[in-house]
Amino acid sequence: QTHLLQQISVHTQQQDESQGEASFEKDVNGCTVSITVVGASGDLAKKKIFPALFALYYEGCLPEHFTICGYARSKMTDAELRNMVSKTLTCRIDKKENCSEKMDQFLKRCFYHSGQYDSPENFAALDKKLKEHEDGRTSNRLFYLSIPPNIFIDAVKCASLSASSGNGGWTRVIVEKPFGRDSESSAALTRSFKQYLTEDQIFRIDHYLGKELVENLSVLRFSNLIFEPLWSRQYIRNVQLIFSEDFGTEGRGGYFDNYGIIRDIMQNHLLQILALFAMETPVSLDAEDIRNEKVKVLRSMRPIKLEDVVLGQYKNHTRGDVVYPAYVDDKTVPKDSLTPTFAAAALFIDNARWDGVPFLMKAGKALHNKRAEIRVQFRHVPGNLYKRNFGADLDQATNELVIRVQPDEAIYLKINNKVPGLGMKLDRSNLNLHYAARYSKEIPDAYERLLLDAIEGERRLFIRSDELDAAWSLFTPVLNEIEEKKITPEYYPYGSRGPVCAHYLAARYNVRWG
Ligand code: NDP
Ligand code: BG6
Repeated sequence: QTHLLQQISVHTQQQDESQGEASFEKDVNGCTVSITVVGASGDLAKKKIFPALFALYYEGCLPEHFTICGYARSKMTDAELRNMVSKTLTCRIDKKENCSEKMDQFLKRCFYHSGQYDSPENFAALDKKLKEHEDGRTSNRLFYLSIPPNIFIDAVKCASLSASSGNGGWTRVIVEKPFGRDSESSAALTRSFKQYLTEDQIFRIDHYLGKELVENLSVLRFSNLIFEPLWSRQYIRNVQLIFSEDFGTEGRGGYFDNYGIIRDIMQNHLLQILALFAMETPVSLDAEDIRNEKVKVLRSMRPIKLEDVVLGQYKNHTRGDVVYPAYVDDKTVPKDSLTPTFAAAALFIDNARWDGVPFLMKAGKALHNKRAEIRVQFRHVPGNLYKRNFGADLDQATNELVIRVQPDEAIYLKINNKVPGLGMKLDRSNLNLHYAARYSKEIPDAYERLLLDAIEGERRLFIRSDELDAAWSLFTPVLNEIEEKKITPEYYPYGSRGPVCAHYLAARYNVRWG
């Protein structure tokens, strides 16, 4: 706890120097942070935001004086909000511990205010309520927009005009995806935000950047001598970014049908991982230095060709007595929807480091397993002395580094070794860093890290507007083409490995999916 508070103090000292913003150092003497969850009655707020805030409180990461206020149209009392929130809080840090006392203390700091998203008067009333809890302290205000995107701007306008910080405190707004659905709508959203906020106040969340193993990617690469020299076309044959879920769009079909898997997963989560993976060494760990490198790599990417994209949609499947529904069985999805629930694509980075290396992405819902992985397949050993021992399996004998983001986090390197004994039989083994075996403490949820960073003003893991522009520039043309040509997806059974065409795509680039 002391360590975390020291970290907070360092961060905020830096902020004071660079931006003249209020810091937690003053917290003890009269500074407070008020966190308003806009859309508090919704799914994300219940599932992720309140539990993450509780975990931060439990860990001692929130400042001494803080207030959490839920805001939404639904009518609720403070007690009803607390009751709703309490159902999703868990003693995540240590499951054996009874943390009910901490939960009660946390819930006492949670309040609710009902209002419309486009009403300055309702936000002014929120401001009044927050001021009561802030008790004359310098107030730093964080708004988390956990609402559908069509009401982002109304809420930001009202929050910034009627409920932003006072007494020299800061105002920050966390925005959830989707950030538009193409270059044009994303740019329009950014322009609208900038009428009310500066870029520094906008924290665009991609929760994959808050996942432990995604954060560890840079550490692995830049703090180990053995990886960075291999990190180029010279040694790497291909890179795979894989996302799969073993359930469909259950409950979110309405949202999903307007976006599809490319916008839902590839253009943001997988592309962000790719940028971190492939960027050049940043000048420092400063947010702007890292984001500058990410933008550079995104802008070096080759336009995606339609023939390098495979689309799929899940159909129903009966296993035993259970009938798994098709995507279009969802009542909120049109029966003739062509929206892809699966996509695979080959991407290329036209720069000196990655020229010719295929980056294959694969993302799908209702597949046979749930996983998110980065797989790095290395080239053949030139003039391999053990060629004969591998025989026909030589192609399988290349090294592979796997970063398993979830579940069961791990980083393992597939190597070749000799089977102990008098003969010369070769075997494939894993050098394995298995997180559950190595670390006893539970891994924090991505939302905890990101919320803490937003409170601290650390922008490293949030998306800057030029990154977003570059990401949309890459995907918009191919998305338009898919929609204009009304490409029919390949139908795959719920719970299967996905469309067969994904294997043909990989084979075209001499890749076998891991
Ligand atoms: P919800 O659909 O649950 O909406 C949140 C709240 O917004 C609702 O409780 C409702 O509150 C209000 N709301 C909903 N629809 C409207 C509408 N048409 N007009 C005005 N208010 C409305 O969203 P989620 O909680 O699922 O998601 C919030 C945001 O986070 C969205 O932008 C979503 O895309 C994004 N997101 C969600 C994820 C998830 O797992 N749920 C994952 C990643 C991103 P009330 O009626 O009380 O005002
Ligand atoms: C969200 C997508 O961004 O990420 C969802 O909108 C997806 O469709 C989710 O299910 C996956 O997140 P996680 O953290 O559960 O892998």
